[in-house]
Amino acid sequence: MTRPRISLNFAISADGKISSVAKRPSGWTSADDHARLLQLREGADALLVGRGTLEADRMTLKAPGDPLRCVVSRSGNFDPAHPLFHTPGGAIHLLATNGPAPAIPGTTAHRGSLADFLTTLSTLGVQRLHCEGGGELARELATLDALDEIHLTWAGHTLFGGRSAPTISGVPAEFLPASREYELVHFDPRPQTGECFLSYRRQR
Ligand SMILES: NC(=O)c1ccc[n+]([C@@H]2O[C@H](COP(=O)([O-])OP(=O)(O)OC[C@H]3O[C@@H](n4cnc5c(N)ncnc54)[C@H](OP(=O)(O)O)[C@@H]3O)[C@@H](O)[C@H]2O)c1
Repeated sequence: MTRPRISLNFAISADGKISSVAKRPSGWTSADDHARLLQLREGADALLVGRGTLEADRMTLKAPGDPLRCVVSRSGNFDPAHPLFHTPGGAIHLLATNGPAPAIPGTTAHRGSLADFLTTLSTLGVQRLHCEGGGELARELATLDALDEIHLTWAGHTLFGGRSAPTISGVPAEFLPASREYELVHFDPRPQTGECFLSYRRQR
């Protein structure tokens, strides 16, 4: 599969959760974590999120250089009133894998698989694709073995618990087809906030 190089960024709690309940927005980490989130967007040709994260975090996906703003959905059920569609920035590409092609004015609609969408982004010139979740989308990228870099904010100051609270590979379910192994390339503890910034690169 021809695809862009893909990086992923998440904040995780001490028990490996990305939010306390499936629908709770993020915002439980530090201002430094938010600054890092913005920094990691720099240099990306496109940003990618799942529709759940777009909705939960009211994202507008803005970054220097106006990277493409990509959102994936199975249903194609996008809310035309969402702030994303009313905020200037990079061109918006919406994928519906199962439902009808999304018809939101000013956006480009795609139908088909996530893997095919990644190939399409490549043909559009996207070399670096940066994903900000959520867990369900990251799980499919991991299943495709398409995660080249993982950036984590280890927020060990908080425990969530919760059987239905998602992790970076979604709500706990079956094993991936195989374990994916990464090497540590960056380690930056922040004693002031009780967090640690970590970056891993896929070992191939
Ligand atoms: N801690 C962090 O750094 C962080 C980062 C991101 C998100 N979060 C949190 O995580 C929670 C959302 O997690 P989530 O797992 O529900 O998020 P998600 O993956 O963003 O959203 C799930 C939805 O996205 C679409 N989707 C996901 N994978 C897809 C695929 N492979 N193909 C097509 N569509 C796909 C589907 O949309 P349709 O329903 O439209 O079919 C699915 O219902 C929120 O509470 C958010 O705040 C935390």
